[in-house]
Amino acid sequence: MNKILVTGGCGYIGSHTVVDLAENGFEVISADNFSRSNPLILQGIEKILSHKIINYDVDLCDPKKTENIFIDHPDIKGIIHFAAYKFVDESVREPLLYYQNNIGSLTNLLFCAEKFNIPYFVFSSSCTVYGNPLNMPVTEETPLMQASSPYGATKQMGEQIVTDVTKSKGLKSALLRYFNPVGAHPSVLIGELPIGKPSNLFPAITQTAIGKIKSMQVYGTDYPTRDGSCIRDYIHVCDIAHAHTLAMQYLMEDKPAGFCDVLNLGSGNGSTVLEVIKSFEEITGNQLNYHLGPRRPGDVPAIFSDNKKAKDKLKWELRFDLRSMMETAWNWELNCKKENY
Ligand code: WQD
Repeated sequence: MNKILVTGGCGYIGSHTVVDLAENGFEVISADNFSRSNPLILQGIEKILSHKIINYDVDLCDPKKTENIFIDHPDIKGIIHFAAYKFVDESVREPLLYYQNNIGSLTNLLFCAEKFNIPYFVFSSSCTVYGNPLNMPVTEETPLMQASSPYGATKQMGEQIVTDVTKSKGLKSALLRYFNPVGAHPSVLIGELPIGKPSNLFPAITQTAIGKIKSMQVYGTDYPTRDGSCIRDYIHVCDIAHAHTLAMQYLMEDKPAGFCDVLNLGSGNGSTVLEVIKSFEEITGNQLNYHLGPRRPGDVPAIFSDNKKAKDKLKWELRFDLRSMMETAWNWELNCKKENY
């Protein structure tokens, strides 16, 4: 079996990708120091797969400790790099933390890919690289705008670094730009575990509905959109995860050395915040306690993807719609309450 290293393998998208890779015939090891994730998720992964997953609890900004992973596993064929800090507001307050962690871990891994002759590299990027695009839907050719935060800047820089190293060292890489990953694995054994008060919409909705949050705020209803609230492209985390498996298989086909491709991972549909809230209420029968408030700094009015390239190149078929995004997110929240997570 081809062995893949997944960094951030106990995080939200990383954990779902570990499961999908293993279910599709890959041998998977994880590197996650739990600075932004929870060991409970590793237990959930192992329950789903019915086997142990080796996880290296190491800081990927430590070159020696990172290299030790590859010394232990000289048969690693590919790397999928998720491990990074991802909060827009935190990155504005602590830019150096973001540049050091997100860029430092990436360069360490690329040095290892070169030193240990690991040809396949998948980089976790984000639709934030597009900034505030003028035209919708966004394609991979949409010009990148000035990043709206240090977080977005680390993703733009990360893409450039992977592209340059791929070309100079003959790697084969994919830059995957996620839109808004939401929902949870249907088993509800893994899902999103926000640290502290959730900043993202879906966990804010489910935590309000379950009573962890008294009332959630809609950040802005005066945007130039159909109902005044922001438009985003929500996509199920399992569809995102499977796209990583397909991307690794795509790279392992006869691609030339130096091959690097950019792919949008979105549903291709835009939903407003108020539409998402309404669909949650309809699906769960819960009346959500929310109030309308001012805009949140850094939010763009609207962004959603053209996902034709990923569908075509990866033979990627979406399996989850907005309803199942909601249902799995809500079932996960109910499970967290039951398990007292
Ligand atoms: C969505 C909409 C909020 C919470 C995410 C990730 C980011 C990147 C891009 C991967 C916005 C509104 C939210 C709340 C609200 N993905 N909202 N009340 O900002 O699009 O960014 O996707 O790299 O890492 O965070 O997602 O879920 O925070 O917000 O009204 O309590 O919901 O204003 O319009 P965002 P989000």
